[in-house]
Amino acid sequence: MRRASLLIVILGLGAASASRCPPAFSVPKSDAVDHVNALIGNGGDTPNGSGGMIPSTAPPFAMTRWVAQTHENYVSVTPYNHTAKRIHGFQGTHQPAIWMGESGQVVVAPGVGHKVKSRFADRGLGFSNATEVITPSYYRVDLDTGNGSVISAEQSATSRVGHLRFTFPERSAPYVLLEATRPTVITSTASNITYPLGSVSIDPARREITGANSERQDWIITPTSTAAHASHFRGYFCARFDTPFVAFGVVQNGSTSVGARAGTGSLLSAYARFSEGTRVVNVRVGVSFISVEQARRNLDAEIPDGARLEDTARRTRTAWAEKLDRVTLEGAAKEEKEVFYTAFFHSLQYPYEQDEGGRYYSGYDNKVHKGLSYTGYSIWDTFRAEWAWLILFAPERVPGMITSMLQDYREGGWLPMWKNIVETNIMVGTHADSLIAEAVIKGVKGFNIDLAWEAAYKDGTIPPENDWNTTYSDREENVGYEVRAGLSSVYAEKGWVADDVHSESASRTLDYAYDDYALYRLADALGKPSDVVNALRDRAMSAPFTLFNNATGFMEARNASGAWAGPDAGWTEGDKWAYSFDVVHDIPTLASYRGGNASFVRSLDAHFDGGHNDHSNEPSHHIPYLYALAGAASKTQERVREIARANYNNTPIGLSGNEDCGQMSAWYMFSALGFYPVNPASGEYVVGSPFFDKVTLKLPGQTKPLVVSAKGASSAKYVRSLSVDGEAVSWPIIRHEQIAAGGDVLFEMSESPETWGDAELEEWTC
Ligand SMILES: *[C@@H]1O[C@H](CO)[C@@H](O)[C@H](O)[C@H]1NC(C)=O
Ligand SMILES: *[C@@H]1O[C@H](CO)[C@@H](O)[C@H](O)[C@H]1NC(C)=O
Ligand SMILES: *[C@@H]1O[C@H](CO)[C@@H](O)[C@H](O)[C@H]1NC(C)=O
Ligand SMILES: *[C@@H]1O[C@H](CO)[C@@H](O)[C@H](O)[C@H]1NC(C)=O
Ligand SMILES: *[C@@H]1O[C@H](CO)[C@@H](O)[C@H](O)[C@H]1NC(C)=O
Ligand SMILES: *[C@@H]1O[C@H](CO)[C@@H](O)[C@H](O)[C@H]1NC(C)=O
Ligand SMILES: *[C@@H]1O[C@H](CO)[C@@H](O)[C@H](O)[C@H]1NC(C)=O
Ligand SMILES: *[C@@H]1O[C@H](CO)[C@@H](O)[C@H](O)[C@H]1NC(C)=O
Ligand SMILES: *[C@@H]1O[C@H](CO)[C@@H](O)[C@H](O)[C@H]1NC(C)=O
Ligand SMILES: *[C@@H]1O[C@H](CO)[C@@H](O)[C@H](O)[C@H]1NC(C)=O
Repeated sequence: MRRASLLIVILGLGAASASRCPPAFSVPKSDAVDHVNALIGNGGDTPNGSGGMIPSTAPPFAMTRWVAQTHENYVSVTPYNHTAKRIHGFQGTHQPAIWMGESGQVVVAPGVGHKVKSRFADRGLGFSNATEVITPSYYRVDLDTGNGSVISAEQSATSRVGHLRFTFPERSAPYVLLEATRPTVITSTASNITYPLGSVSIDPARREITGANSERQDWIITPTSTAAHASHFRGYFCARFDTPFVAFGVVQNGSTSVGARAGTGSLLSAYARFSEGTRVVNVRVGVSFISVEQARRNLDAEIPDGARLEDTARRTRTAWAEKLDRVTLEGAAKEEKEVFYTAFFHSLQYPYEQDEGGRYYSGYDNKVHKGLSYTGYSIWDTFRAEWAWLILFAPERVPGMITSMLQDYREGGWLPMWKNIVETNIMVGTHADSLIAEAVIKGVKGFNIDLAWEAAYKDGTIPPENDWNTTYSDREENVGYEVRAGLSSVYAEKGWVADDVHSESASRTLDYAYDDYALYRLADALGKPSDVVNALRDRAMSAPFTLFNNATGFMEARNASGAWAGPDAGWTEGDKWAYSFDVVHDIPTLASYRGGNASFVRSLDAHFDGGHNDHSNEPSHHIPYLYALAGAASKTQERVREIARANYNNTPIGLSGNEDCGQMSAWYMFSALGFYPVNPASGEYVVGSPFFDKVTLKLPGQTKPLVVSAKGASSAKYVRSLSVDGEAVSWPIIRHEQIAAGGDVLFEMSESPETWGDAELEEWTC
């Protein structure tokens, strides 16, 4: 996903290697975790060319991720940029992706001296990246106080608590500042929702600074039908120090009230001072979306008094090792291991936990409910391969993630599209339909299946409000839930979304058709009445081809009248090249429209050779795999290897496009295994070219490992033969049930193209 609203272009950023020495204390062994390079994806000249990833510390799916703050982040700017020269504190962030805004963040900033520096620009301290230790569970840096001495800062975290330790220079006057709020920029006055900014409170007896921050940068794109509008949303915090305060105060916009115990407003911070000469100060910061009391409970539950930073770091490292050590790579170079394990690290961050102590705050109705909850769903991206990865590697989370989507449906009326606390209406299609269908087809249990069907079927049958007179353009404000905008215009009757009524009409048409396919598979799996099943199937199969312009051989948008709207109209982050391959659920028919397999393969060649494949954005992700579905498997093998080489490496610019909550990385990992979920709701993977000699996967909940062997794969990229559990596979398809419980996937590789998986290419006749 790439939704540019701001652009910063600075050329000439070179690749650089990261400083990643292990922490100076003993940690559990994990070869996989030691290969995570959390700087991968932090670079890039423009926000859309950056992975948008940050070197944060937190366990998998953590509610809050902690990171050194180099920038005040917002849409298109991340809180940490590896090229920066100053660090302005340590931020508990909830920004899930580079094109999403921050919500309810808190920043902890250490300082020395008799004047407390609270403003972002003033409090920044220089650092050398040579002093940084960056791991998934522990971060350390030396901050230059400006006169030759340093504050050593160390950071770790659990899901809801940040743990910081500052070692101050000798004989200094140390303090720690908690920043609750920034200035608030209201970008639109069209709706009159008021956002009280925040508050701080100091309790020296408990050595606590608590507070709240209501900033939610994406509030303006909340659908108007979300009546509650998350207006009670707050990031609450409870920071508890291990050192008594000798002084404290509140700072508002640079003006300090020494001894004040509370404050409200914007640009608000509170600080505590420690006696001169204090060397080490620990602070744990519990966060909550429910209340300060809950933040305190989270603190006591996750990092109780007396816990040392080393203990927190070891625990979080163990949580990562428990996942990442499930995959062992043989025959991978160091660089490839770093790319793979960092991808794995990225793939297990989102969606993130929104529940605490068995309850969660819902922005849809402003109430606190019982149960689990997740947020940070970038479904237009993640339905492709990230969800399939989560089904394999985080199966214990998947029912909770679906249950959370069903809660959104109950509390807000619809399944999420891009939920960031509440829906944001970003991107198109109702791909939650695909997540649910894929889960059901892959045998996932543990959620309310009747409610899931009801919610998904609503997506396919009920248009959004004011569908006939609302464009639902990107980030359009003051509109209802976007869901399937255009469902009522022409789509439900003639099969396409009208370009003169809705934005991005051609992409919508193709995406809705795929979502209908997912609904059809779901309806079929659940034994729904045949008229329901058939109607969904018929629309899924016919809708895409209403856009196929026989005169040009490409998909094109159409007006309500049926008139073609032009080759460049109606696309979402892609063009006619990529989208003309976007019928993942019916490649045979697509190939026949393009003149048959041979001609279809030539059109794929024209797409790649003409430079039209843009792997930095999701609409291209499945395209290299289409050769294999048209009888040219060896060309899939070539293209997949080329794309992996060109778009992934172990430097900050090691992701060519936005990570998008794990989708960029899921593409790499599946491709490295040798198969990819082109049509996720089918439960099938299309075979590509495995990268490594041998990969052993210990899938959670399975006793038998899944072993993918491909001897010689590093130089031999072509497949000569394939067998699964000893049975020959002659077709480039593996079904989920063949691998889900472990087993042996045995590739025989070759240095030159082989005919394995090919069909005879018939001549182009039309
Ligand atoms: C990034 O976004 C800018 C502005 O939206 C656009 O001009 C540029 O082409 C984009 N770059 C890439 C690589 O997509
Ligand atoms: C570390 O800092 C050096 C010197 O400023 C710089 O050349 C290098 O690119 C930096 N490394 C990273 C990973 O940013
Ligand atoms: C990081 O900072 C550099 C230098 O200012 C800039 O070129 C780059 O765009 C920034 N990266 C991101 C992802 O914003
Ligand atoms: C400068 O360093 C001394 C010695 O470490 C320390 O006491 C003092 O607080 C520092 N002053 C500033 C402004 O950083
Ligand atoms: C917002 O409030 C102002 C002042 O009360 C009022 O004049 C205006 O009509 C309101 N706007 C909306 C969209 O409700
Ligand atoms: C903060 O103070 C500066 C002047 O020091 C002023 O320009 C700015 O408007 C103030 N901001 C707020 C939000 O009060
Ligand atoms: C669209 O139609 C509805 C219902 O007739 C009306 O309430 C609304 O104001 C219209 N919106 C626009 C943007 O014209
Ligand atoms: C499609 O609709 C738009 C908007 O009404 C119009 O400007 C355009 O001329 C139409 N295109 C054709 C080919 O009819
Ligand atoms: C394109 O041609 C196919 C048959 O070759 C036909 O079924 C289809 O209706 C044509 N599409 C359009 C939009 O004319
Ligand atoms: C096209 O290739 C696929 C995959 O090899 C094969 O199943 C299909 O029969 C071929 N189609 C035609 C019309 O030959």
